[in-house]
Amino acid sequence: MKLIEAKDYHEMSMLAAEVILDQIKSKTDSVLGLATGGTVLGTYQQLILDHQRNKTTYQHIKTFNLDEYAGLSKQDENSYHAYMKKHFFDEVNIPSSQTFLPNGEAQDMKAECETYDLKIEELGGIDLQLLGIGQNGHIGFNEPGSSFESNTHLVALEQSTREANARYFDSIEDVPTHAVTMGIASIMKSKKILLLASGIQKSSILYDLFHSDVTNSIPATILINHPDTIIIADQEALSKLHQDERKMFAK
Ligand code: F6R
Repeated sequence: MKLIEAKDYHEMSMLAAEVILDQIKSKTDSVLGLATGGTVLGTYQQLILDHQRNKTTYQHIKTFNLDEYAGLSKQDENSYHAYMKKHFFDEVNIPSSQTFLPNGEAQDMKAECETYDLKIEELGGIDLQLLGIGQNGHIGFNEPGSSFESNTHLVALEQSTREANARYFDSIEDVPTHAVTMGIASIMKSKKILLLASGIQKSSILYDLFHSDVTNSIPATILINHPDTIIIADQEALSKLHQDERKMFAK
């Protein structure tokens, strides 16, 4: 795991966009793994700005999102389908037939999950996976206790995750109780992983991430076993780590 320290949210987003653009430029038909949430929003904004200014093309890019709420329709404004359309897909020239998200309304969820993993494999696997991190250490919606061997599957969301995401809904009761998520094994198969963290609310989990052994009670700790993971975090998120530790992890 290589740590890159950013001054603030804006710098984190700029640095993250650079990593993604390097990937796209070195392989114009890259398969990108994408995330939703507040942390990655600025990165999408930077990619859109670059697309407008520099005409970087997404014509041959394919994308797979990490997760989707179970039970929400694609049109629901809180669905991750709607988030991706609004914050990224509609703003760049990616054909919609090349963007994939799990279907949270699938009748046969097991078949949906299997098909999703097969589709990723069929397109050659994920070249670069973008991740945020939950305050409980989740990646995707792989909550504490998730198996490291899991592929795409249906999960029950932790109360703390529902509370953290309630800001987007009218009330906590409206936050779905379940989601479909790529599993940890699916995420770990990605050739490169880029995890972003910003803000004081992520400082405790980042401290734990760098100090804990690999344990499924903090799912993100598995990333230390991945050969090419970059973490870009801002100063607030790193504020519980000592300067010397930050330097050590930056190597
Ligand atoms: C979203 C996802 C989640 C978020 C995480 C952080 O697709 O997979 O793991 O990345 O919950 O969310 P924010 O960025 O809103 O703090």
